[in-house]
Amino acid sequence: MDITPFVDRRARLIARMGEGVAILPTATEKTRNRDTPYPYRADSYFHYLSGFPEPEGVLVLIAGNTPQSILFCRDRDPDKEIWDGYRYGPEGAKEAFGFDETYSISQLDEKLPELIANQPALWHSLGFEPEWDTRIGKALNAVRAQSRAGKRAPTAIHDLRAALDEMRLVKDSHEIALMRRAADIAAAGHRRAMRAAAPGRYEYEIEAEFLHEFRRQGSQFPAYTSIVASGPGACVLHYINNDRQMQDGELVLIDAGCELDGYASDITRTFPVNGRYSGPQRDVYQLVLDAQSAAIAAVKPGVHFMTPHEAALKVLAQGIIDLKLLQGSVDSVIESESYKRFYMHRTSHWLGMDVHDVGEYKTGDDWRILVPGMVLTIEPGCYIRPADDVPTAFHNIGVRIEDDALVTLNGCEILTTAAPKSVADVEAVMAEVKS
Ligand code: GLY
Ligand code: MN
Ligand code: MN
Repeated sequence: MDITPFVDRRARLIARMGEGVAILPTATEKTRNRDTPYPYRADSYFHYLSGFPEPEGVLVLIAGNTPQSILFCRDRDPDKEIWDGYRYGPEGAKEAFGFDETYSISQLDEKLPELIANQPALWHSLGFEPEWDTRIGKALNAVRAQSRAGKRAPTAIHDLRAALDEMRLVKDSHEIALMRRAADIAAAGHRRAMRAAAPGRYEYEIEAEFLHEFRRQGSQFPAYTSIVASGPGACVLHYINNDRQMQDGELVLIDAGCELDGYASDITRTFPVNGRYSGPQRDVYQLVLDAQSAAIAAVKPGVHFMTPHEAALKVLAQGIIDLKLLQGSVDSVIESESYKRFYMHRTSHWLGMDVHDVGEYKTGDDWRILVPGMVLTIEPGCYIRPADDVPTAFHNIGVRIEDDALVTLNGCEILTTAAPKSVADVEAVMAEVKS
């Protein structure tokens, strides 16, 4: 494994801290049910700075004149390694991950007071994990108890996650390479799903196709719970049952992305179960696609986070009026928010290690300005539930189209273009298997 990106990020965080000591534990293992753990995934922040894959790791970073990067981790354990596999142990981890010092995790409570003593500031994110607040509080008190021996406890506490969120919001080249690959794998999964769809098949059969593709290409997990929503399910935003038999004449909406080495992709495609969009389906689909194109065209450095949403919304509002689903002008539909009956979510979120990635959406009162290296989704939709005032031809048409956009120097790069999207491309891919 190339440890350079992790060493580099630790150095950048230490520079950002200026002074003080940061304490960052990784995720704990969780039991799913009796003797069966959930698949383990490191904490995103911890992985970002260490690349260290084992549970029971704690990272301590010291800023100032003699910066230090220290890991506490599990000891080697021949008996446990027979059952659960190799452990690096402190010595192995020091060598493999480029730490200045490593210690056994069993020494953490004894060492913490020494490490924080006489440091001006402590970097820790209060409130996320109460047990760590308590543990760190005990270390602080242990230092305070030694005040007559000349030890001083840090007098400032800074939010470590907030500092890391700013870093994670702008991806480095190592992250961008992984996100490109995660996007390619997910796109291949969507192509396979399109080829596998047919009337009479079950949603989970299609899910099995893209999950197989994700794993076959080395992705460790789906990046989030996949949505395979046919017919009326497409209008349920968080539909995850994926157990319905798909019917001729329906659309199916698939929102699925994979995680590769800690990085997510997030793609939605909506296509006809039988391979051909009906007239009303095509009208709504093309409208969402046009809204998405407008939003993508708006992504560039210097605009704010909501600019793509506003661009998509204008197109959607006009289209919904043209389809006679709403009355009034574009401005009045937007002003009154009557469009929310058909489009109730926003167009974008940050994407990175977490599918809804970290990073503030506002700075002060203003929406964040986009800069190169940010990655955001562009995912407009239109969801038409059955209602007396809606022509039956539109009932249960739910469409979302979602791509992942990397902000570049003069616009954006869509990472997910390999997933077919135009009406012609989708129908052509689906026709290949039928011919
Ligand atoms: N897949 C989650 C989302 O699109 O936000
Ligand atoms: Mn998304
Ligand atoms: Mn999605």
